[in-house]
Amino acid sequence: MANTILVGAQWGDEGKGKIIDVLTEDAEIVVRTQGGNNAGHTVLVGGKKYVLHLIPSGILRPGKTCVIGNGTVIDPIGLMGEIVGLRAMNIKVGKNLLISETAHVVFPYHRELDALRELGKGKKKIGTTKRGIGPCYGDKAARTGIRVVDLVRPERLEPLLKAKIKENNEVFRAFGVKPLSFAKVLNEYAAAGKFLAPFVADTVVYLHHATQRKAGILFEGAQGTFLDIDHGTYPYVTSSNTTAGGACTGSGVPPHRMHRVMGVMKAYTTRVGEGPLPTEDKEISDMLHGLGREFGATTGRARRCGWFDAVATRYATMVNGIDELAVTNLDGLDTLKTIKVCVEYRIGRRRVEHVPNNIEQLAECKPVYQEFPGWETSTSGARKWGDLPPKARSYLKAIAQMTGAKLKIASVGPGREETIFL
Ligand code: IMP
Repeated sequence: MANTILVGAQWGDEGKGKIIDVLTEDAEIVVRTQGGNNAGHTVLVGGKKYVLHLIPSGILRPGKTCVIGNGTVIDPIGLMGEIVGLRAMNIKVGKNLLISETAHVVFPYHRELDALRELGKGKKKIGTTKRGIGPCYGDKAARTGIRVVDLVRPERLEPLLKAKIKENNEVFRAFGVKPLSFAKVLNEYAAAGKFLAPFVADTVVYLHHATQRKAGILFEGAQGTFLDIDHGTYPYVTSSNTTAGGACTGSGVPPHRMHRVMGVMKAYTTRVGEGPLPTEDKEISDMLHGLGREFGATTGRARRCGWFDAVATRYATMVNGIDELAVTNLDGLDTLKTIKVCVEYRIGRRRVEHVPNNIEQLAECKPVYQEFPGWETSTSGARKWGDLPPKARSYLKAIAQMTGAKLKIASVGPGREETIFL
């Protein structure tokens, strides 16, 4: 398999987990390169549902090696829980999982700060997952973070953690929040460090050797293009580079070793959390929620829903260099008589062809829609291109063309078998 970077082309929750699982069949190694347990990838295998947060979904296939790369932020208690949970479901987690020494560690003060900052923002809150992601990446950028290499060495962890807890407790006292107990946090995190130590490795060197022997590597993106800290709808974003470049910095694999970028997008648009969503629409929201669809895997929150936004996905193609597309959740549109696609934005009478960087401007953008006739029949039984109703095929071709990349996969359900390859 060509070394493949897989990214979300929208606001996250594009169904990447399932596509990664399908592509993993041909890969030897699967790497997570950014984000933390704010992500939630749901994968359905043989009728069993697995929800993964930090561990790459490659773990569900025997014989694959999964890497949690240096660009991620790791909540050790959450990760330990995920490993224990998978083992309880008879999934092997041992030598097939490697954790980067240089990934940063999420501590309870990060989660507390995340919650406090959100509270302080009031109506302007970001709507974070409250997993401490932003404050942890903040410490990394400020060079005051604690890394996995420290977590697994109690003699290093103790002084570093002591200083961080002292510093953060002063902030908590100022906010009238109960300070953290250093002894309690140290105990808990040192134990987690001991549990995780056998998985810890220099993953950059491991991946370097893997590229030399031409092992197929899949870089699994978390969140989506418009949640990227640089290219997303700032400040309503997450704190990592969710776009293709993040796969290089977050793994240590250089750009010229990457062979293709696949973008995953839903046949419509969703977003969790706050921030502008130009094509948000009550009709499609009510319809999808009525079907029990579009509730978050990590927080259970109802996702905001809208029509497919080709202005956004075109932008995603530009920023990520998307070569190939996987369109998911086509079956979500099965009951609609008419389907809308946003082909451009307007502010007043002015045409806006790219997603504006100014968030106030983006909030003012009104979508201009092109309408497509719905196919009004179930697509979930389709297994090949020819099984799809002609109107569904036309719709898929049109959104791929507007996005500017080659359609490779269409997904009509959460199961592995509910996948059409072109
Ligand atoms: P944080 O990553 O928890 O800081 O949240 C920042 C923003 O990213 C919020 O709008 C979250 O809802 C969103 N977000 C974070 N992780 C995911 C994800 O896995 N899927 C979709 N949205 C996410």
